[in-house]
Amino acid sequence: MSKITIPDIIRRKAEGKRITMLTAYDHLFARIVDEAGIDIILVGDSLGTVVQGHTTTLPVTMDEMIYHTRMVSRGVKNALVVGDMPFLSYQASVEDGIYNAGRFLKEGGAAAVKVEGGANVIDKVKAMISSGIPVIGHIGILPQSVHQMGGYKVQGKDDASAERVLNDALMLEDAGVFAIVMEGVPEGLAKRITDSVSIPTIGIGAGIHCVGQVLVLYDLLGLLPQPMPKFVKPYASLRDQCTEAIRRFKEDVENGRFPGKEESYH
Ligand code: KIV
Repeated sequence: MSKITIPDIIRRKAEGKRITMLTAYDHLFARIVDEAGIDIILVGDSLGTVVQGHTTTLPVTMDEMIYHTRMVSRGVKNALVVGDMPFLSYQASVEDGIYNAGRFLKEGGAAAVKVEGGANVIDKVKAMISSGIPVIGHIGILPQSVHQMGGYKVQGKDDASAERVLNDALMLEDAGVFAIVMEGVPEGLAKRITDSVSIPTIGIGAGIHCVGQVLVLYDLLGLLPQPMPKFVKPYASLRDQCTEAIRRFKEDVENGRFPGKEESYH
C-alpha cells in the first residue's frame, strides 16, 4: 500500500470507491489504524471528551491538538493525517485560522485540517486554502456549537434547516474543501448533498449514501462507557476485556499467583 494523498481521496467519488476514516489520538492506536489500511486518520478534537474527560470539546487547545497530532503522525506510514481545528483556533479571525491551521502542517505533520461550520466560517476556510492548507469541511451537528444547538441534535430535519445544511455544503465546495464530513443528518438529506457536490462526503450518523464513513475509534472498539450514540456500531468490546484482564491481574497478585516461575528470572 502506498501513501494516500488528497487527490486519491478526491478521486474516490468518481471511481465509485468508499473512503474509510477513523480518529486516533496517539502513536500506538495511529499505528494500528494505519496498519489496518484506513484511508484517513483524524486527530479529532473529540479527544477532549474521549481522552481528557471533558464533557464537551470546547476546552481543547491548539497546543494539545499539536501534541496529539505529532504522536499520531509518528505512527502513520500510509494514511492521510488530518488535524481538527479546536474551538477558538479559527473563529475569531482569518489570521488565527491561517496561523493555527498552518501549525498542524508545520508542527504536527498533518496533511490537512478539518474545520466545523459552513457559511459562518467560509472566509476563514478560503483563506486557509489559499495559503496552501487543504481543508475538510464539517457540517450538520457541530460539537463546538453544542450550546447554540441546545445539545447534540440531528440537523436538517425540517425544510429550512435542510436548506441551511445543503447551502453550507455548496459554499464549502465552492471555497475549495476537498471533502465534507456530515455529522448527524437524516440519510435522505445526506444523499441529496452527496449528489449535489463533486467532492466526497464522509458521514457519521448520516446514513449509507455518503462516499465515506468516519467513527471515533474508541466507539468502534467498544472502549467507551455505554450508552453509545445510535449511529455507532461497536466492532469489539474492549472495555469489558480490559476490565476483565485487570481484575484477573489483581486477583493473581492478591492470591500470590503472579509472578509465577515463567515470569521470574532464575
Ligand atoms: O472530533 C472528532 O472526532 C470528529 C469526528 C467525530 C468527525 O469531528
